[in-house]
Amino acid sequence: MFKTMLAACLSLGLLLPGAATNAADQAPILIRFAHVVADDTPKGHGALLLKKLVEERLGGRVRVEVHGNSSLYGDAEELAALQRGDVQLLAPSLAKFQQYTPKLQVFDLPFLFDDHEAVARFQQKPTGRDLLMSMHEHNIVGLAYWHNGMKQLSATQPLRLPGDAKGLGFRIQSSRVLEAQFAALQAQSVKLPFGEVAGALKSGKVQGAENPWSNIYSQQLHTVQPYISETNHGVLDYMLVSNARFWYGIPHEIRSELEAIIDEVTLAVNSEAARLNEADRARVAAAGTSRIIALSDAERSAWRNAMQPVWQQYEAEIGPLVMRAAKAANRSL
Ligand code: SIN
Repeated sequence: MFKTMLAACLSLGLLLPGAATNAADQAPILIRFAHVVADDTPKGHGALLLKKLVEERLGGRVRVEVHGNSSLYGDAEELAALQRGDVQLLAPSLAKFQQYTPKLQVFDLPFLFDDHEAVARFQQKPTGRDLLMSMHEHNIVGLAYWHNGMKQLSATQPLRLPGDAKGLGFRIQSSRVLEAQFAALQAQSVKLPFGEVAGALKSGKVQGAENPWSNIYSQQLHTVQPYISETNHGVLDYMLVSNARFWYGIPHEIRSELEAIIDEVTLAVNSEAARLNEADRARVAAAGTSRIIALSDAERSAWRNAMQPVWQQYEAEIGPLVMRAAKAANRSL
């Protein structure tokens, strides 16, 4: 009888005044989402939408703080901060994971994907989805792929053919593949965090860069780069990641709702990314500060021929399975 009463009292929280005896009493789970881009970009929109939906559906139980524009961590520190548990959600560009798995380097190979639709198909295939789990041993879990877009080459001088890049210095993300890509053009590359790109182009520390339109416009890179060649030579997409121990420690019911929200946000980000990039391309064109150079098929083939030897340098470490699946994604069947 006593045991029954004790159980009843405990379940009502009557014997532990002040103690957190049910979900309503518990402090909300705090998710800090740090990123390095502006709000008005595919990733910036995604982070804010995620916060909004969490407030609507998990308010009181989960709280999301968004820290954009490298305001909490720059891209050189954010993954270490995630592993330490100082931040709980990030969406680094796929080029930033090289130190945790060589497989994700597949996304950096120039001209591997014919277009962004092929990238999306690969990400949805079983091989692409498996890559979300490729950093588990480093306590990093991939939750989704978020799109940005294809990269364009900008510079202080017109780049029409690969030889035009010879001798110039290009800012790159921290990626050996991207270093090899510019070496194949006999150009220099300088690894810099995203937050330093605009300053480095303005000061002349580097003469060029590679970015999708949304990053060019939101960082105002077109005001310091008089020429932008529409090369579409590589992809810049993201992986939404969390600290694995943190993520799997979230109570099941709350984590399921968070995963449902992430699915919804992913759909929204991925269906609006192309439109945002197109709109930013139009804004860059309207600003009139840089000339947009459209390449002929023959010119684009010349860039492809110059950069493609990089594949052979990396395909062994990326692995034949991933390489085959990525190439097969170019066929839309
Ligand atoms: C980003 O879009 O998150 C930044 C990519 C870069 O470092 O170029």
